[in-house]
Amino acid sequence: MIFDPITVCNLELQNRFVRSATHEFMAEEDGTPTSRLGDLYEELAKNEVGLIITGYSYIFPGGQSDIYQQGIYDDRFIEPYRKITKRVHRYRSKIVLQLVHGGRQANLSKEYPVPMAPSEVKDGHSAVVPREMTEQEILEVIEAFTKAAVRAKKAGFDGVQLHCAHGFLLSNFISPYTNRRTDRWGGSVENRARIITEIVRRIKEETGNSFPVLVKLNATDGFQPCCSKAKLGLDIFQAVEIAKLLEKAGVCAIEVSGGIGEAGGVTIRTAINAPAKEAYFRDCSKAIKNAVNIPVILVGGIRSLSVINHLLENGYADLISMSRAFISEPDIILKFKSGEVKKARCVSCNLCFDSEGISCNFQFE
Ligand SMILES: Cc1cc2nc3c(=O)[nH]c(=O)nc-3n(C[C@H](O)[C@H](O)[C@H](O)COP(=O)(O)O)c2cc1C
Repeated sequence: MIFDPITVCNLELQNRFVRSATHEFMAEEDGTPTSRLGDLYEELAKNEVGLIITGYSYIFPGGQSDIYQQGIYDDRFIEPYRKITKRVHRYRSKIVLQLVHGGRQANLSKEYPVPMAPSEVKDGHSAVVPREMTEQEILEVIEAFTKAAVRAKKAGFDGVQLHCAHGFLLSNFISPYTNRRTDRWGGSVENRARIITEIVRRIKEETGNSFPVLVKLNATDGFQPCCSKAKLGLDIFQAVEIAKLLEKAGVCAIEVSGGIGEAGGVTIRTAINAPAKEAYFRDCSKAIKNAVNIPVILVGGIRSLSVINHLLENGYADLISMSRAFISEPDIILKFKSGEVKKARCVSCNLCFDSEGISCNFQFE
C-alpha cells in the first residue's frame, strides 16, 4: 500500500511517503534559498519521495524563528525558488512550500524586539512575553500569508502547507492556552480557527481553486496525553472540530502533529527504540481521519515498514510523513522497496539539528 500511487490535492503522488517539513539551516541570513537546498530536495526527489515539504519559510521579516531559515516574504525569493522546483520536477516528486510566522516563538531583533501573538501569554519555555496583536496586524498577517502563497505558485511549487503546529503563530491562535481573545479571533473553536480559514479563503481568491493548500495541524498542545479529557490547551476534541472547519474552507490535506515548546519534548521525541513508541500521534490522526474526507498525513517517530503498513491498513492515516529518517537515509524508500532494510536506522537522538546544515551526526558503530 505504501508504495502505491495516490492522488492528493489533485497531485498524482508516486507513493504515500511524505518528507515532513524540516528546517534545513541552509538559507542565507536574509532567508534567500541556496543551491544547497536545491541539492537536498533533488536528492530526495531522486530517491522517490512522493511529496516533499520544505523547511518552514517565514512570510514576514518579524516572523523568523531560526537562523538560516528560508524566507518567502519578498518577490526577490521567487527566482531562486524557481531554480529549486525545476530541479525537483525533473523527477516524479511533488514539492510544497511550508509557510510560517513564528508568533511568540519568533526571534527577537532590533527591529522586532517583542514578538506578537494572539494574547499576552508568557512563553514558559523562553520566558518571553509577547504582545497582543491588533485587528490590523491580524489582517496584515493574513495578507502576508496570501502574498507568500502567490509567490510560491509563481516559483513553481505544487502547493503550500500552512504551519499550524508546534507553537508558532497559527497554532497560537487555535490553542485556548495561548489565545485568550474575546473578539472574533478568539473564544469559540470557529473564532480561533478564523485566521486560518481566512488565509485559505484569500489564497484561493488570489491563486485559483486548484492551487493546493495543505495544513500541518497541532492535534494537541501536548500538556496531556493525546486523547485524555484533561483540560489544558488545545486537545484532540477541539482539533477534530478545527479539522472539519479547515476541510470546509478548502484545505486539501491535513498533516497531524502536536506539541508546543513549553509542553516539553512532545513534537520531536527522542529514544524511539521500539515499534510501540513509533507513530506517537497515531490516535490523534485516526480521530481526525474519522472526521474528515480529505487525506490525512501522520508524522512523528515513524521508522518501521511493519508500523507503516499497520497504520495504512488500519485507517490511522492515508500518507506517512517522516523528517529525521530522511536526514539519516535520504534513500530509505528505495531501501524499503528493495527489501534491504525493514526499519530506518534513525535513533531519534536529535543531533541532526546542526546550524551548519542538517545532517545525521550520530556515530553508528
Ligand atoms: C532538524 C529538524 C527541523 C524541523 N523543522 C521543521 C519545520 O521547519 N517545520 C515543521 O513543521 N516541522 C519541523 N520539524 C518537525 C518534523 O517535521 C516532524 O514533525 C518531527 O521531527 C517528528 O517526525 P520524525 O520522527 O519523522 O522526525 C523539524 C524536525 C527536525 C528534526
